[in-house]
Amino acid sequence: MEKFIIQGNTRLVGEVEIIGAKNAAVAILPATLLINGITTLENVPNISDVKIICTILTALGAVVTWNNEHTVVVDTRHLNSANAPLEMTSKFRASYYLLGALLGRRGNAEVGLPGGCNLGARPIDQHIKGFEALGATIIDEQGKINASAKKLIGSPIYFDVVSVGATINLILASVLAEGTTVLNNVAKEPHIVDLANFLTSVGADIRGAGTDTIKINGVSELSGNHTYSIVPDQIETGTFMIAALASKGDILIKNCIYEHMDSLSAKIIEMGGKIENLGDSMRVSCDRELQATNIKTLPYPGFPTDLQPQIAVALSIANGTSIINENIWSSRFQYTSELNKMGAKITAQGTTAIIEGVNKLIGAPLYATDLRAGAALLIASIIADGSSELYNIHYIDRGYEHIEDKFRKLGAKIERIDKE
Ligand code: EPU
Repeated sequence: MEKFIIQGNTRLVGEVEIIGAKNAAVAILPATLLINGITTLENVPNISDVKIICTILTALGAVVTWNNEHTVVVDTRHLNSANAPLEMTSKFRASYYLLGALLGRRGNAEVGLPGGCNLGARPIDQHIKGFEALGATIIDEQGKINASAKKLIGSPIYFDVVSVGATINLILASVLAEGTTVLNNVAKEPHIVDLANFLTSVGADIRGAGTDTIKINGVSELSGNHTYSIVPDQIETGTFMIAALASKGDILIKNCIYEHMDSLSAKIIEMGGKIENLGDSMRVSCDRELQATNIKTLPYPGFPTDLQPQIAVALSIANGTSIINENIWSSRFQYTSELNKMGAKITAQGTTAIIEGVNKLIGAPLYATDLRAGAALLIASIIADGSSELYNIHYIDRGYEHIEDKFRKLGAKIERIDKE
């Protein structure tokens, strides 16, 4: 077990490069299972969730080769299994994408119930409803899900809730189905559009990704020998934007997509920060006292739940009282008790947190409770007076590549050491 030791009181200044999106990579890697050929993926984040998927793909008979730190070649010509190893699938959330992909390619799949961060109840009823609408039989027993279909037939599917995972899974299951599938009330996140762009580049017929309705005309096969570059990570971009704001720093964020950040940019400007759009990069800075504001998390293009803990750090040192309404996950305020140990004044109840701004945070021993909470506590430690120890950093490694190196280049004093 490793931990970070952070000496605080740092204003972050300099440049950072954003890598491909975790939540796109964990969908596109399983999507290669739909192809009978070789796919090269570039700009792949070298993070633990991605490494686990690569191991699972290998166990299914794919040949996975890392050409360099960020380029993965997946040869799916000789798949020999539809049973994803249970001990691996239970380690991360996106393992449920193996259901859609294997169902689409082989007509059957067996996957252990997905694990992942504990953010409250994480049902998959909409995924199952969608697979059943395409004609699959789903058996959910003893910690695993078995899906099978003689033939998948396209169908209209209306999702009762806007779900990133269900939208992706049904795209995966329907690209090779017979006929037309129309998905209504879908998620519109950049990684949904990226998955659709990837699949279209290998021959799928998908229209409407990025709107509320996606139409998929099934095709008989997808072609190999393509190279695709994963979209820059919206949440990593936002994490560094908030780090610039909270540290009253000045960061040039390279290889990012400005338009994906509109909901966060609006809040950063309300709070007193400045943002310059420089094409493939943006500069975020702040040279004044932060002002309180209110946040409501919503599906894209609303404010992302995955940036809620990080913005709470900036709000905890802003002038005035802010209110956060968390509308996606029921248990996403676990980090607030850690921030309160640092002197923050946050009262969290149910899906609402009230934050009374304080002058400064003070270093403390801290425990990450999930991936984004870990990123938030790291930012809090960097700006706090004194030193902090941050435990459970394996959560952070699930979704951020070399996070301490990136923050160190911006001036942060962070050491990763083995916990004794
Ligand atoms: N929901 C249902 N039924 C379903 C599916 C979802 O009721 O069948 C509900 C959930 O309980 C939740 C809401 O719908 O209240 C949205 O869940 P969604 O399915 O969109 O979430 P997810 O696919 O499980 C992905 C990301 C999360 C991110 C959410 C919301 C991946 C691998 N995970 O999860 O990312 O918080 O979308 O944007 O893409 C993270 O990266 O730290 C992370 C947790």
